[in-house]
Amino acid sequence: MSVVWLNGCLSAAADARISPFDHGLIVGDGVFETIRVYAGRPFALLRHLDRLERSAAAIGLAAPPRLQLEQAVAEVISANPDVPEARLRLTVTSGPGPLGSRRGEEPPTVLAAVAPIPPLRPSYAVAVSPWPRNERGPLAGLKTVSYAENAMVLAWARQLGGDEAIFPNLAGNLCEGTGTNVFVGVGGRLVTPPLSAGCLAGVTRDLVIDLTDAVEADSPISALADADEAFVTGTGCEVMPIATVDGTPVRQCPGPLTAAAQQAFRALIANPPAEL
Ligand SMILES: Cc1ncc(COP(=O)(O)O)c(C=O)c1O
Repeated sequence: MSVVWLNGCLSAAADARISPFDHGLIVGDGVFETIRVYAGRPFALLRHLDRLERSAAAIGLAAPPRLQLEQAVAEVISANPDVPEARLRLTVTSGPGPLGSRRGEEPPTVLAAVAPIPPLRPSYAVAVSPWPRNERGPLAGLKTVSYAENAMVLAWARQLGGDEAIFPNLAGNLCEGTGTNVFVGVGGRLVTPPLSAGCLAGVTRDLVIDLTDAVEADSPISALADADEAFVTGTGCEVMPIATVDGTPVRQCPGPLTAAAQQAFRALIANPPAEL
């Protein structure tokens, strides 16, 4: 039975109650993080909490104190000892409010929950989204609970038999996946879109940039299908080789740069420094 942490209290998931007027539910007004738990320990927790605070500040929400968030994470992991390999979701919404877009005056809702993580696939088939990411929109690069665009486009890719969809941005450049960042290998060099392309500052993306010689540069969306090799990164999928783009095989899967990134990232997971 899954136990969740809601506003300071642990309870069975079936007993946890969130107001029907919560603005996270009503208008998607909130922020979140998905944190990977390996062998009962949260990976890169500091980076995730930093990003949660940045996302909250950007949408004008007061983030709960850091200590409370750390406590929520520690307590929900301890309360679910049967799921040591987990996806931990930390959500902060603006709390209950009116049935319109104007925010209420009540305290935020803070929720931590865990779920088992499915085994990783060896590679992904990706589809290029016909809908662009708006790199100029107010939510670009933020991890807010307004994720219907990602849910819809991922469902579209899955209907085509894909595992992930990759967005271009309004400029026609490579941006990111619905829940991943993207890297392409071209002429022996790894390239990933810069944050100005509208992608999320992925925790995995940052770590992979540090672990490899990857550079941040804009590329046209066609660079994905033309790449020698390519991969996506994310908390759930780690470093995931791309096997096909719109049904056409990528030249190498996994290519040498992808395999090296995968190996370096797995070594980091096995031995994470304390400051991560
Ligand atoms: C839109 C989007 N881009 C990229 C990522 C990858 O970020 P991270 O490596 O922090 O999981 C995510 C992950 O949740 C995401 O939702």
